[in-house]
Amino acid sequence: MTKYTNPTMEAILTRRSIRAYSDEALTAEELKDILDSAEWAPTARNEQETMFISLEGPALDELLAGFGNPGAVYGAKNLILIYARQSFPYFEIDSGIAVQSMALAAKSIGLGSVIVGCIREYLRGSEADKWKKKFGVPEDYIFTIGIVIGHPLNDTPPKDRNPGRVVSF
Ligand SMILES: Cc1cc2nc3c(=O)[nH]c(=O)nc-3n(C[C@H](O)[C@H](O)[C@H](O)COP(=O)(O)O)c2cc1C
Repeated sequence: MTKYTNPTMEAILTRRSIRAYSDEALTAEELKDILDSAEWAPTARNEQETMFISLEGPALDELLAGFGNPGAVYGAKNLILIYARQSFPYFEIDSGIAVQSMALAAKSIGLGSVIVGCIREYLRGSEADKWKKKFGVPEDYIFTIGIVIGHPLNDTPPKDRNPGRVVSF
């Protein structure tokens, strides 16, 4: 068995994108851990220009019906959408940091996740304003990225990382 130097490194190195989930929704405690990890992610200049929209049950079904591809969440019962104020120069970076925090928080409590960019075109398209209004997201915000979180149905093998991407002097 591989030994990790600490539990954080283990979560980082063993996280995988999970694409098969059981029917079980997250408990309130699990969801709180995930959303805390998003809220406490750093933002440039401490701007806190990111928002996290947590969807489950009928709210999630409605979004998926609009999107037209329920398979995008791989059977998971929870989806968190990140919106951010697009006039802020770091809005996409801050969103990315928050989404990875949620992926690692999920892993650390035995849950699986997959980041989903596939709904981006839809949530930025002609129906963008309808959803923003529904979610209470300000007009100058834009969808950045989403994350599916749930109970994994199986183990996912690691994908190799390309060599040559780490350069040290
Ligand atoms: C910005 C971003 C968008 C992604 N969008 C999707 C997506 O829409 N659907 C999906 O199944 N996986 C999506 N992924 C997951 C990647 O395919 C996955 O991270 C990559 O294949 C590496 O696998 P790993 O996460 O298991 O290491 C996305 C990942 C990132 C970082």
